[in-house]
Amino acid sequence: MEASVHNKKDRRTMKTFTTLCLSILTFSAVLTLESAKADDEFSPSRAPVEATRQMIVAGHPLAAEAGLEMLREGGSAADAAIAAQMVLNLVEPQSSGIGGGGFLLHYSAANAFVNAYDGRETAPAAATPDRFLDENSQPRSRADVIPGGLSVGVPGLVAMLELVHADHGVLPWARLFEPAIELAENGFPVSERLSRLLSEAGPDLFAASARAYFFDESGTARPSGFILKNPELADTLRRIATKGGDGFYLGEIARDIAVAVRSSATNPGDMTPQDIADYVAHRRQPVCGRYQRRTICGMGPPSSGALTILQTLALAERPFMGRQFSARALHLVAEAGKLAFADRNRFIADSDFVDIPDLLDPDYLSERRNLISTSRTMGRAEAGTPPDAPRAGRDGTRTSPGTTHLSVVDADGNAVALTSTIETRFGSRVMVRGFLLNNELTDFSFAFEDDEGSPIANRVEPGKRPRSSMAPTLVFAPEGDLEMVLGAPGGSLIIPYVVKAIIGHVDWSLDAQTIVELPNFAGRNRAFEIEERYANMPVIDQLRALGHEIRTQPMPSGLNVIIRKSDGRLEGGADPRREGMAAGD
Ligand code: GLY
Repeated sequence: MEASVHNKKDRRTMKTFTTLCLSILTFSAVLTLESAKADDEFSPSRAPVEATRQMIVAGHPLAAEAGLEMLREGGSAADAAIAAQMVLNLVEPQSSGIGGGGFLLHYSAANAFVNAYDGRETAPAAATPDRFLDENSQPRSRADVIPGGLSVGVPGLVAMLELVHADHGVLPWARLFEPAIELAENGFPVSERLSRLLSEAGPDLFAASARAYFFDESGTARPSGFILKNPELADTLRRIATKGGDGFYLGEIARDIAVAVRSSATNPGDMTPQDIADYVAHRRQPVCGRYQRRTICGMGPPSSGALTILQTLALAERPFMGRQFSARALHLVAEAGKLAFADRNRFIADSDFVDIPDLLDPDYLSERRNLISTSRTMGRAEAGTPPDAPRAGRDGTRTSPGTTHLSVVDADGNAVALTSTIETRFGSRVMVRGFLLNNELTDFSFAFEDDEGSPIANRVEPGKRPRSSMAPTLVFAPEGDLEMVLGAPGGSLIIPYVVKAIIGHVDWSLDAQTIVELPNFAGRNRAFEIEERYANMPVIDQLRALGHEIRTQPMPSGLNVIIRKSDGRLEGGADPRREGMAAGD
């Protein structure tokens, strides 16, 4: 009896062993197959753009051309970024503009110094924590509060760019507006993407002036190739070119912004001309950390970008990350991302209003790193207890992908990484004097406390800046030289996009174009997210075997990257998922 039991057990053990061996063989075969397939699958659609002197990579070819024109005139990286940004306002109005805000990182080659600039929108003085609650004190839906005046924050882009120009500009301020003014007056061809996004959005939620600009009388979106003129924006830009920030923050433009916000037919807001006059852009300390002997610098609060990227990288870092797109690498990065996002969602908000604990404390990071197993997913991560952690509620704020990123390196080796936004596509859909206003205030938490009554760090408060995920980033080689300038749009997916690009360069030694085209994936403490067209990669089954729940979705990153080689040559990669272009000499 016993023998037979043993025999049965032995047979079972044998069977299990055989299955295991077969699985290992299959797993190795899959890995080998995956490697062969991966190399085919991930070869980019085009080669990176190369240059020896200067380069810009921006979200639209006309913007890249305007930036390059400034560089060729002897302009600085800051000049090129400002000129390109003004053109983006016109030709990529769904993503960014003077009605919104942004963050900019600047590297001065002469003194090897990094400056960080904060042009984030602010809540009006009348804003209160219950701004986005309904009559039953329940959070309203995002879709419900985005259109109209309530979601509009005081725009910060113009003030920030003026500050950057004062610090790092070479060409006259007014010159930087000429390409955009000329295009606004003479017209530009509507791009395929702009036309498609307008068709998808439909005319109904746009305020009247925006509807008349973007759609014909029957409500059909301007088709691709249609020459669209924007004389009102040309006039606005001319005023700012002549009067500087005062032309925007004081006088008629400010008055019209406040009127449009307050008199919006949908969700009227409470912004006053005084709120606009009071806006101040800030110089902030960049947040820097180490990864694989590199120094990586990015934007700190009110952005969660740099802290979450640096936490993810620090928690994923191993002597051997795993080869390109292996299950090991994706698992490690996703698990690290879960831990980092759990902390982000609890602790990061505008540091002028809340205390943010030291999320990069080395002891804390080692403790958190120990939570990662290489053989099984942790499922959902909880926020940790970093040193001096304040009592803070769990926050489920979501962000949308109406953002753009540009990277510049000038002939003196200075660099700019600029990420700017009007929040969701076409922002609040309210147009003033030719530009769209943002809906950035929906980046705040709609609830102000969690179920346990703990205050949510990212709750609405007067004059506060909503938490962002924008992550303009600079990477420095172990010897200290600038090595990479990058960033992306994508709401909170910006964070995994930038992580992917850094790992693609540092761990996998890929060129700038391959990096941006690699399949997008994310571990945001939800399911493992993978770009839908790569859902059938063998590695996905391996991740399932590690316990990951898989979610596929479109992930239209707009990663725009410059890599500076050790011999000084520049390599630019523009993301084909959007309409960006790299241009240089
Ligand atoms: N509105 C996008 C962001 O700030 O992350």
